[in-house]
Amino acid sequence: MTQQNTQPEAPAASGVTITGLHKSYGDNEVLKGIDITVAPGEVVCLIGASGSGKSTLLRCVNRLEDPNAGTIMVGEFEATDPDVDLDAMRRQIGMVFQQFNLFPHLSVLENCTVTPRKVLKQSKEAAEAEALAQLDKVGLKHLADRKPDQLSGGQQQRVAIARALTMKPQLMLFDEPTSALDPETVGDVLASMRQLAEAGMTMIVVTHEMGFAREVADRVVFMDQGVVVEEGPAEQVISNPSQPRTQDFLRRVLNPLGE
Ligand SMILES: Nc1ncnc2c1ncn2[C@@H]1O[C@H](COP(=O)(O)OP(=O)(O)OP(=O)(O)O)[C@@H](O)[C@H]1O
Ligand SMILES: [Mg+2]
Repeated sequence: MTQQNTQPEAPAASGVTITGLHKSYGDNEVLKGIDITVAPGEVVCLIGASGSGKSTLLRCVNRLEDPNAGTIMVGEFEATDPDVDLDAMRRQIGMVFQQFNLFPHLSVLENCTVTPRKVLKQSKEAAEAEALAQLDKVGLKHLADRKPDQLSGGQQQRVAIARALTMKPQLMLFDEPTSALDPETVGDVLASMRQLAEAGMTMIVVTHEMGFAREVADRVVFMDQGVVVEEGPAEQVISNPSQPRTQDFLRRVLNPLGE
């Protein structure tokens, strides 16, 4: 999606370079030397079996976890530098989880303005204008006055995406954003993510949605047991994987009943 970076609407995009990343919990070495490079404006889907370390990897990128070894660069920031300005770095990174964690007592609009007002010191008017613009992009401006529990799961997840975008991130991390949703609401969330990708956002997306990965990702990275087993253009990794472990994983994901 790099070619669309010249659009006037395109966000400033940060690349990510992960080198020799190790992370252990006690004796359990979860990441065993990960190298991944994501160019500015690139969309990388991260796939792999449960427990392979995908969430841990994303959490290391915005230093929700402290790696044991290795370096991570996010744009100009070295995330792994003990002296990095974490607040400044995290302002560049939007994160969307499986559970969207909206504030239940706040309206959709308030959910999207609270952080820009508090952290970016935006005026109420400016924050609301930006929030409505982002809600419009995910097709939910008309629901700005609702409370989260008056929305479907898919709508709540789109609010979570809009909320992340109000902070003008240069990198978006998604950790299985659709796996907690009712199937009929998944498509709208994926459509919003695709739109973001087309606008030139740098994205790392952990997902089991192989159709999305194939169509939207520039590259797919397959992880197993803490290592990158295979990576390459999405079409190649998903349709024609070269490694037996990738082939086995995809067979199970694409055909869970083994028929
Ligand atoms: N905070 C933690 N403390 C101890 N062990 C952890 C912690 N977080 C993750 N782990 C362990 O690290 C391993 C990798 O977990 P991780 O959540 O990164 O996997 P994943 O690939 O995201 O899996 P899933 O697809 O199920 O989300 C697992 O064995 C898990 O039990
Ligand atoms: Mg996970």
